[in-house]
Amino acid sequence: MNNYVKIFDTTLRDGEQSPGATMTSAEKLDVARSLAAMGVDVIEAGFPAASPDDLEAVRQIAAEVGNPPDGSPEAKVPTVAGLARANKSDIDKAWEAVKGAKKPRIHTFLATSPIHMKHKLKMDPEEVIQRVSEMVAHAKSYCDDVEFSPEDAGRSEPEFLYVVLGEAIKSGATTLNIPDTVGYTTPDEYYALIKGIIDNTPGMHAGITISVHCHDDLGMATANTLAGIRAGARQAEVTMNGIGERAGNTSLEEVVMALKTRHPVFGLETGIETQQLSRVSKQVSSYTGIAVQPNKAIVGANAFAHEAGIHQDGMLKNQSTYEIMRPEDVGVNQTNLVLGKHSGRAALRNRLAAMGHALDDVELDKAFARFKDLADRKKTITDLDLEALVADEFYKPREVFQLDDLIVTCGTMDMPTATIRLRGPDGKIHAHAAIGSGPVDATYKAIRAIVKVPNHLMDFNIHAITAGIDALGEVTVRIQAAKAQTAMSAQSEREYPRIYSGNGADSDIIVASAKAYLNALNKLIVSQTEDTEKEKNNFGVMLG
Ligand code: KIV
Ligand code: ZN
Repeated sequence: MNNYVKIFDTTLRDGEQSPGATMTSAEKLDVARSLAAMGVDVIEAGFPAASPDDLEAVRQIAAEVGNPPDGSPEAKVPTVAGLARANKSDIDKAWEAVKGAKKPRIHTFLATSPIHMKHKLKMDPEEVIQRVSEMVAHAKSYCDDVEFSPEDAGRSEPEFLYVVLGEAIKSGATTLNIPDTVGYTTPDEYYALIKGIIDNTPGMHAGITISVHCHDDLGMATANTLAGIRAGARQAEVTMNGIGERAGNTSLEEVVMALKTRHPVFGLETGIETQQLSRVSKQVSSYTGIAVQPNKAIVGANAFAHEAGIHQDGMLKNQSTYEIMRPEDVGVNQTNLVLGKHSGRAALRNRLAAMGHALDDVELDKAFARFKDLADRKKTITDLDLEALVADEFYKPREVFQLDDLIVTCGTMDMPTATIRLRGPDGKIHAHAAIGSGPVDATYKAIRAIVKVPNHLMDFNIHAITAGIDALGEVTVRIQAAKAQTAMSAQSEREYPRIYSGNGADSDIIVASAKAYLNALNKLIVSQTEDTEKEKNNFGVMLG
């Protein structure tokens, strides 16, 4: 059996389905570029049948990221996959979306568990077998590379799975993905499931790749994925930061670093350049607005922090006392940047390039202006500060409303007041002043009075990016569109109003709060414009 595990990233499909993770097409394209640069083997770019926007986003990724830049070796280009339910219309749309890639893949799925077949599909097992056979063949008529997933395999009868998967092989599937859709199995059970499939599926041969796809409802997604790999799976379906439906999917960085750090145990390789993990994690977090918890394995802010005296003492004597991975292996550089306000553009460009941010001249001008501004207020600037600055400047949705100026007064007089100026979509400046229960409340009231999009603030979080009184503050908010704004989405796509996340970073935490709120509001406005387009085309569908 070969010792290479393909990394199939589904951040843009399963990940994007998590509440609040909605990304615009431009953001998805940017993430796909990063995933490709990091060495991901397969990018599941979306679910093209969901809407014309989704189809277009997958098409763009296939055309750009799925094709080798002139002269580069073809082997570096990722496969671009599109998801399709097992029906002709979905499969046709998936093919339409991925066919421009050098290596296209159609990924089709149908549920096989008794619960799903009875209550959701209302199909009996024979009908399911028949449908799988026909739809895999339909996908194969377009594309050599076809993946089939028996949804809810974790709760399916193994003997039934062998039959369904055998039919999928007969009809031309080359990858068989085994989803633990509801995160129900334990590592031992999942190992046995994968091993049983490899040993008992009729027609199984060396050209078939077995893939693992786990959800984290019981916190066992990574353990299950690794168990499946030990049993012989050679593709792992994962997302950056583990984002995904409910409790999320298996996180890419955990699987990749487990295989690397415990190489003697697994003896397996991936093609991931692990030094890029931290940057891509930050990018996905900024675009989705889903903050990474500080104690998150590999990419959390505290993943390499040592607080306890005994630990610090050990670290000073020898790093391996408390560190099983080197922070630089995942792209965390803890050295402070010794650039101050007298440093030049070239020094900044070099540092950003070393961190994986290749900025063009216009972008560098913007980053440099922000850097100078920060250097005036903060003595030492770390890579974490720079990451936040780049995220704040570049990873944001189209700025329908843009912060122009903000003045806030607050204190013990009980009348916190915010006066704000925003540049609107009409290019004009709109100003408003409001009193609130605190400075953030006053600021948000003033913003609401100008933007006039009914919404409900669900979450507000603030944290310091680095230690020290002069640290940058990062604010993350989640908002929900009020009913009137979501009539169309509720009918055609989701049963509940969508959640939009936003974040902002600044050394002034009220400015960071204003930016975060505007960031989320801009996403809401952009997405509602896209929804109106969908409504016109009567195209919205729900993932089955
Ligand atoms: O979790 C799941 O079952 C899925 C399939 C569509 C592959 O995401
Ligand atoms: Zn899934």
